[in-house]
Amino acid sequence: VTAASYFSTQIYKAKLSRGWASLNQDLSEVVAELRSHDREGISWSKKNYPGGYTSFHSLSELHRLNGAFRELELALAPHLKSYLAKLDYQANASSFVMTDCWVNVMPAGCTHPAHIHPSSVISGTYYVAVPDGAPGIKFEDPRSGLFMHQPPRKSSARRENRTYVELAVRPGDLVLFESWLRHEVPQNRASKERVSVSFNYSC
Ligand SMILES: [Fe+2]
Repeated sequence: VTAASYFSTQIYKAKLSRGWASLNQDLSEVVAELRSHDREGISWSKKNYPGGYTSFHSLSELHRLNGAFRELELALAPHLKSYLAKLDYQANASSFVMTDCWVNVMPAGCTHPAHIHPSSVISGTYYVAVPDGAPGIKFEDPRSGLFMHQPPRKSSARRENRTYVELAVRPGDLVLFESWLRHEVPQNRASKERVSVSFNYSC
């Protein structure tokens, strides 16, 4: 008798091994600057990201514009390589390029609804500020739309059998996932801001 798990969905989580505290300090300074000067992003966020700020629709290639973000890109590279090694794609790690890199600021009460990152292969987020009580990142079983007549899972279901999985994160952590995997950030119930940098890779 065999009963094994197939069709895996792999999510990679790690902490930058060193230098993350000073990198986060540098990134925070750039984020503060963007929040007060990125007029296009401020206006887009006002309409579409209530209470929060994202540079995704204004400055989405920060790794090409700023040294601290370039440093983050370099620090992420070995993690991307480790993650790709687990995915068994035919494409070489060296053919992957970071195409987008932007910031997200979520003050108290802000939510980031469920979405995917179309046109990318690997996406991820690096955490700059995660106050106590702020949410992690929540993923949905990508097969959810196919489950006809499936009974609900137990609240004690094993991790691999859950429909939703929320990973807790701390500053200096990074999470990588395949871009088609639907994810969201639940409401920030902490009184302080949650700050992260998200990015996409293509090959
Ligand atoms: Fe996302």
